[in-house]
Amino acid sequence: MRPLIVANWKCNPSTFAEAKKLFIAIDKGAKGKKAAVVICPPFVFIPGLSALRGSFLKLGAQDAFPEEGAFTGQVSIRMLKQFGCEYAIIGHSEKRALGETNEIINKKIKACLDNAIIPIFCIGESGKERKEGKTGEVLERQLELGLKGISKFRIQNSKLIIVYEPIWAISKGKDWNACDAGKARQADVLIRKIIAKLYGKLAGDNVRIIYGGSVNPDNALEFIEKAKMDGLLSGAASLDAKKFIAILSKF
Ligand code: 13P
Repeated sequence: MRPLIVANWKCNPSTFAEAKKLFIAIDKGAKGKKAAVVICPPFVFIPGLSALRGSFLKLGAQDAFPEEGAFTGQVSIRMLKQFGCEYAIIGHSEKRALGETNEIINKKIKACLDNAIIPIFCIGESGKERKEGKTGEVLERQLELGLKGISKFRIQNSKLIIVYEPIWAISKGKDWNACDAGKARQADVLIRKIIAKLYGKLAGDNVRIIYGGSVNPDNALEFIEKAKMDGLLSGAASLDAKKFIAILSKF
């Protein structure tokens, strides 16, 4: 399977001119590579980048609101779809830190599935939770509550993507502090077990799981080859066209 490489630009860059330059550079460098690439820019850049999009790069949003109406500051799934967004990151730890709950995440995932947007559903433990040996229970709870009420048939037949993104491994834009491939492998096995328990073996075997947290050109291949991840979610490295293309070139 082609690895799926997702760029999460977070709240960067500052101007549309920079966003456009980065997008065009990635588009050029990504052509002919084996990986499938999804770019998730800030909302305001989506219409402009959508107009530049060729057939290679796919667009995603960093969030997606399930409803329309009196919801100040939100951007709905239908609004995003108009501009060619096919994916949405849901439940990122940086949004959870601002108060997003498992219940809200669950509503967003359901709405994405209802509207044929592929949810890129982030789960992961904090450094403290890992030290206390709670990784398994944290992942199980996030999966159980985030996917609550979604039918087995739907999970088995959706293109849902789960991201294992341990909070302690996120770079904050500076130092790489990646989880090693061994720990990522354990998380992949554990997540498949939990999904199999909740939704059956077929879902556990087939769900796409990708890794996020300090991904860079030096460690990218390990997560695919050793940890057997189906792809990567990149933050800081995706803001540097050279680094991001170097990641894509590993496959
Ligand atoms: P970094 O790649 O900068 O560690 O960010 C990871 C992340 O949060 C992607 O969603």
